[in-house]
Amino acid sequence: MDLPADSGASPLPIAVPAGLLPSFVAQHWHLLREVETCREVTPAAVQLPDAILGAAPKRRREFVAGRHCALVAVNRCRPSPAVEAIPIGENRAPQWPSGIVGSITHTNGLAWAAAALSEHAGGVGIDCEPVASERLARELWPTIASQAELDIMRAACWPLAVAFTLTFSAKESLFKCLYPDVRRYFDYRDAELSVADAGVVRLQLRCDLGSMWRPGSVISGRYVVKDGHVFTAFVRGGADQDITSLPL
Ligand SMILES: CC(C)(COP(=O)(O)OP(=O)(O)OC[C@H]1O[C@@H](n2cnc3c(N)ncnc32)[C@H](O)[C@@H]1OP(=O)(O)O)[C@@H](O)C(=O)NCCC(=O)NCCS
Repeated sequence: MDLPADSGASPLPIAVPAGLLPSFVAQHWHLLREVETCREVTPAAVQLPDAILGAAPKRRREFVAGRHCALVAVNRCRPSPAVEAIPIGENRAPQWPSGIVGSITHTNGLAWAAAALSEHAGGVGIDCEPVASERLARELWPTIASQAELDIMRAACWPLAVAFTLTFSAKESLFKCLYPDVRRYFDYRDAELSVADAGVVRLQLRCDLGSMWRPGSVISGRYVVKDGHVFTAFVRGGADQDITSLPL
């Protein structure tokens, strides 16, 4: 879900902050305003699917930039054989090459992608959001979180708008991280925030998503609030690791 436009009053982010992803996760980001002027980020270089060819310019620009970043990240973590396209998969999830996990996000300011070998990570989810307005935060809070989650954030002294955006972004990151594994939609209220402190955010599942994702499972991610934006990232363990988060 995209936050409505009035959340974008903050300045555009100019860089993805450090400290969000472990070193075995390759990442790349690109400023959207530079898409048209950057020779390597062309529709030809990222192979626009039919569904995107007919889309509005903003959507084409964010798709191209997101795919460009994803291709750089994928080819950085496994240089050979070179990957030239990442098709759109089921439910809009990117179809990562076999043996690779990854994630893409774009705001009105930048596109950012991350990828890792699946022997190192079972899934990656990243998200970047401009801090919402307080009005929007008040209006949308009940759709994404409970009063208990709001109380946790207020106890940690987060301003309402940041608390809302961080909770929203963490949940979207978690969704992208788990989706390739669980292959079903789950809602913002299906995971509950239990901690958001010192760069660590924890979400606890309230629904049964199958395999190891049972109600009560706790998944940890990272966050940074910077330049009027919230960045979140979840990386879960590889197939042989029964862990839900990895140290940096
Ligand atoms: C899928 C979703 C998280 C994307 O977030 P967004 O705010 O629209 O946009 P972002 O820029 O952050 O991310 C967009 C990218 O997410 C990726 N994405 C979309 N659907 C996805 C899925 N099912 N699984 C994994 N990644 C997905 C795509 O790469 C997309 O970019 P692209 O279309 O250019 O390829 C959001 O639209 C959504 O459906 N949310 C509801 C589900 C949810 O978040 N539940 C919370 C559970 S606690």
